[in-house]
Amino acid sequence: MIKADFLLLNAGQLLTFRGPGTVRKRKLSSEIGLLEHGAMAAKNGIVVWTGKSSRAHREVHLDSRGTEVDVEGRVVTPGWVDSHTHPVFHGTRQDEFAMRAEGADYEEVAAAGGGILNSVQRTRNASPEALESTLLHHLWLMLLNGTTTVETKSGYGLDLDTEIRSLEVIDMVSETWPQTLIPTFLGAHEIPVEYRERPDEYIEFLIEKVLPVVHERKLARFVDIFCEKGVFTIEQSRKFLTAAKALGFDIKLHADEFHDTGGAGLAVELGASSADHLLSISEHNIRKLAESRTVATLLPGTAFFLGKPYPPARKLIDAGAAVALATDFNPGSCFCESIPFMINTAVCQMKMTVEEALVSATANAAAALLLSDRKGSLESGKDADFIVWNIDDYRSIAYHLAMPDIETVYTDAVPVASRNRLRRIEFVSGGKG
Ligand code: NIG
Ligand code: FE
Repeated sequence: MIKADFLLLNAGQLLTFRGPGTVRKRKLSSEIGLLEHGAMAAKNGIVVWTGKSSRAHREVHLDSRGTEVDVEGRVVTPGWVDSHTHPVFHGTRQDEFAMRAEGADYEEVAAAGGGILNSVQRTRNASPEALESTLLHHLWLMLLNGTTTVETKSGYGLDLDTEIRSLEVIDMVSETWPQTLIPTFLGAHEIPVEYRERPDEYIEFLIEKVLPVVHERKLARFVDIFCEKGVFTIEQSRKFLTAAKALGFDIKLHADEFHDTGGAGLAVELGASSADHLLSISEHNIRKLAESRTVATLLPGTAFFLGKPYPPARKLIDAGAAVALATDFNPGSCFCESIPFMINTAVCQMKMTVEEALVSATANAAAALLLSDRKGSLESGKDADFIVWNIDDYRSIAYHLAMPDIETVYTDAVPVASRNRLRRIEFVSGGKG
């Protein structure tokens, strides 16, 4: 008998995403590990068993003080892994959003001193308490949308004090907050005004003065850079990321977002865990990504929000690349915390199948964070982070537009968020199709 302190019974569909603890490509890119009439047991927040509900009581011994939950036919999935977010900033930018609605272009707004630098100025003047309160607000909205693991970038400080403060806030919050936070140092998010004409010197400054502090204080798991025309070049990105790797950091890149500068190729060359955005990736670099273990992280919300063409998901998947979906939540180019919305968009607009979109927001997103051993699937040994849905067919997750019908979100087998209903309604198990 397997000993457990938590047992979930009667999942109409339990999506386990069982599979190799690495990137999911080709055939595996649509394997959801469907278990009908499924059950799952956990001990100390870790999954210890999954199987048919009818066998649960024969195979699992639940502690006398353990919890048994009957989900009455609902769908259960792993919690989402959002592998790309920028939630540490102060002040919002609906003014620029409205300007864009009247015809201004995102890059024009940025070149005129708006954009990231606008948020930088306000973030530099913000107290840690103010940053913490913004961060918690958006993390909570992510949690209500089913996200249980969040990669959280700095990058609105662009000086030693504010970058460190941003990472400290993430560190502080993660001590007690139920989601798993994975901090990324993005000091190379933009060239700050004081270095406007001297980007090489800014990169030197980051390498010599900031990276060592982040490293010594263990404030980040990943290091990232915005490799883009008018921001950091391929050469600057190579130099910066090579220095980060030498200190032992894992790396990722904002690559080929607005222009094909070859960022995805650099990601493969340096063994980055992911290359993110890729709206403008070349055919050549699609092939290079496909031959590598670097995950192509697509951010449909950003293309949607900016009114740009979507990244070439179909080409990437068909070529054999591992694709992840993330929100890119940030105040300028995608003010959206919802992974379900990214799944809707990927399926409705990017020609991804429902199953591919689901793998991309779970197993492949965990791989993009090098967390496949803990997150992204519900198998023995993984964290019991999961979502109980008010649906009886997993395809409804993609089908129900912008309205994730979530009952309860669990992390470490503990319920942490529930839909705040005015009146409890009966779960309706209707005909499928
Ligand atoms: O990932 N591409 C660069 N950075 C963000 C945008 C940040 C902002 O506009 O504040 C992004 O889209
Ligand atoms: Fe981003």
